[in-house]
Amino acid sequence: MRHFLTLKDFTKEEILEIIDLAIKIKKQTKKGKLKPYLKDQTLGMIFEKSSTRTRVSFEVGIHQLGGKGLFLSSNDLQLGRGEPMKDTARVISRMVDMVMIRTFSQSILEEFAMYSKVPVISGLSDSYHPVQLMADYMTMVEYGKDVNPIVAYVGDGNNMTHSWLMLASKLGFELRIATPVGYEVHSDILSDALQFAEISGAKIIIGHDPKKAIKGATVVTTDTWVSMGQEAEKAKRLEDFKGYMVDDAMMALAAEGAMFLHCLPAYRDYEVSESVFEAHADEIFDEAENRLHAQKGVMVWLDEHRDN
Ligand code: CP
Ligand code: NVA
Repeated sequence: MRHFLTLKDFTKEEILEIIDLAIKIKKQTKKGKLKPYLKDQTLGMIFEKSSTRTRVSFEVGIHQLGGKGLFLSSNDLQLGRGEPMKDTARVISRMVDMVMIRTFSQSILEEFAMYSKVPVISGLSDSYHPVQLMADYMTMVEYGKDVNPIVAYVGDGNNMTHSWLMLASKLGFELRIATPVGYEVHSDILSDALQFAEISGAKIIIGHDPKKAIKGATVVTTDTWVSMGQEAEKAKRLEDFKGYMVDDAMMALAAEGAMFLHCLPAYRDYEVSESVFEAHADEIFDEAENRLHAQKGVMVWLDEHRDN
């Protein structure tokens, strides 16, 4: 049985297979001909953090596949009153067919998966956001931006950055990351990515200069400067990230016709200017919609890889 906790656990071929499946599923959905791949299955969706896209896309996605989503907020579960995750895993996984969890530490996801009888999907942790990257790459494919891409990520070295590191190093493309000093990517995750890059031929460039990162990039991306759980650091972060906003002047350095992606929610005139955001709204909201289809791809793929 496979889980979907980080792209680190997936080969290039598997990632591309899931993307192809997601694109096929999106086409079927648009034609009103989606096969009920997960008929009568239940997806348990555990949320320890807020969400708009992840909740709606998983709940609607499992419904479209013929199953049912069960929204489980940690505020309402006994988990919120101290019941251990491993017990929660052993109970819930006897009753549902698949589980999605949005939580804090990656180790919580791993613990749940260790005790789970069914496949577990990350809906974001402090370390990674792998389903978001599946939607992002799917959007790159749809816009023809997957051919020798040069991706520039400007901003916080966070769960999104780590997932970009995994995607680029597995698929073998160029990724340039520019963060302020003190907000670099996690060194262990970077070292894993550099090892994968040796095999795939990916070019990973880490630095602090956003202009240098964006120059000639074919895809530019960023994320909030204040992730969930970092609210207490907000004032300091807003100060430390000055100069890292992706604005028109920054985008002008990118390659002609460069794409701009944002996982959302976006904070206008902080990590991205209002004008860049609105100029790229079609791409950004296609990316958001693709969460729905990419995750259907992930769920169907996991279902096909269960131990029988
Ligand atoms: N991008 C994303 O995961 O959005 P939500 O936090 O709204 O789920
Ligand atoms: N880095 C952000 C992503 C939100 C989808 C966070 O963790 O809050």
